[in-house]
Amino acid sequence: MASTSGAAQVLVASNRGPVSYQVRDDGSLHAKRGGGGLVSGLSAIGPDAGALWVCSALGDGDREAVRRGIGEDGVRMLDIPAEVHSDAYNGIANSVLWFVHHMLYQTPLEPVFDAEFRRQWASYETYNRAFAEALAAEAAEGAAVIVQDYHLVLVPGMLRELRPDLRIGHFSHTPWAPPEYFRMLPDDIARAVLRGMLGADRLGFLTRRWADAFTACCEAFAGGVGDTRIGVHGLGADADFLRRRAHEADVEERMTALRAEIGEGRKAIVRVDRTELSKNIVRGLLAYRQLLADHPEWRERVAHVAFAYPSRQDLAVYRDYTAEVQRLAAEINDEYGTADWTPVVLHVKDDFARSLAAYRLADVALVNPIRDGMNLVAKEVPVVSDQGCALVLSREAGAHEELGEDAVTVNPYDIVGTADALHRALTMPLSERAERTKRLTDAATALPPAQWFLDQLTALTGQRGG
Ligand code: F6P
Repeated sequence: MASTSGAAQVLVASNRGPVSYQVRDDGSLHAKRGGGGLVSGLSAIGPDAGALWVCSALGDGDREAVRRGIGEDGVRMLDIPAEVHSDAYNGIANSVLWFVHHMLYQTPLEPVFDAEFRRQWASYETYNRAFAEALAAEAAEGAAVIVQDYHLVLVPGMLRELRPDLRIGHFSHTPWAPPEYFRMLPDDIARAVLRGMLGADRLGFLTRRWADAFTACCEAFAGGVGDTRIGVHGLGADADFLRRRAHEADVEERMTALRAEIGEGRKAIVRVDRTELSKNIVRGLLAYRQLLADHPEWRERVAHVAFAYPSRQDLAVYRDYTAEVQRLAAEINDEYGTADWTPVVLHVKDDFARSLAAYRLADVALVNPIRDGMNLVAKEVPVVSDQGCALVLSREAGAHEELGEDAVTVNPYDIVGTADALHRALTMPLSERAERTKRLTDAATALPPAQWFLDQLTALTGQRGG
């Protein structure tokens, strides 16, 4: 189970942890381990060295595991009441802070900061306090704590009050809104967010652009960043893991199935996303339809492989978006499909092995978010692509700062421009594609997850100025 209270030397706190539990029919619990940058990053330290990951119990299986005292070494799950968690996660984090930082609100209906929002904000404070108290109880004297993301922006300030001896960091995996957009939050809430974050010794962002936006918000609404240091750490792809995993038998099997769905000899435009508004999947489909209209020569010679995995389905706006993606894909297939050609191959059931199969087969990768903290798909596809892959990349993705030179850049709102970019990518000579893929791979793997995490830790615990 979790390490002894008060003994952890390095702590990470995030809403979603590295493991989740499901209750089987026979009542036993099945543990499923997750992936991602933080999991690889923290594994560079591990529980034996006093590392502890504090996270939420999400769903019935996790709650049951907490009740039965079942858990993994180095992980402590907090059983926060389901209503409080829902208010904080669905209500504030994913309906307000996510929308602010990704600039997703659509007037005149949104945003609405009413009494219900205030009630949810109180739950968000309770949820953040539960994390701060758990971290305060688990951390050894002078330990380092790195809090993750927009779910937990109040934790640094709360933890600073409880444990002034700790070295506290916070890392944002999202963009940060510019002051003109951030100021739509009620003044007291905007200040609470910034002051909560400024309770940290050091704040990390994925790109300089998001770090500068945060600094600008602090200058506009909180009298500056004070003594808090700010750093940029652009998380890269985990090349060793991806290359190994992408050549396992289940991925090979899925490549065969996917190749059959695409049709022999056809080119594949691949996208893989959580189905989420900032990913801009609908405009991607519109651009593909535009390509088929503008360039009839591509009909029957290309397929758009779109994997749109469900995300945050408790919220109607995310469910509606999934439905819109499905509706539009079906419409394009009705409009252009033939007896042996399905123009859009859409899958919505999450399957990591099939995603890797698609990465390997891709001729073109389409990554066109409206705004994105980084976007790891843009970094992962070049690493595992079998034959080199042209990358069509939104200039609003954090990854564009590192990959822009060798990508085909798009304005994510411009449907005609994106269709044009898809055509350019499809017609890119194979030799150029291979050369660009090599350079993209180098840039994408420059900061592997373990190093990304260690750099932050060193900067937090080392001398001031880092
Ligand atoms: O991009 C921010 C982020 O928190 C990522 O770190 C994470 O992969 C993603 O959102 C997952 O969101 P959720 O936990 O809501 O599924």
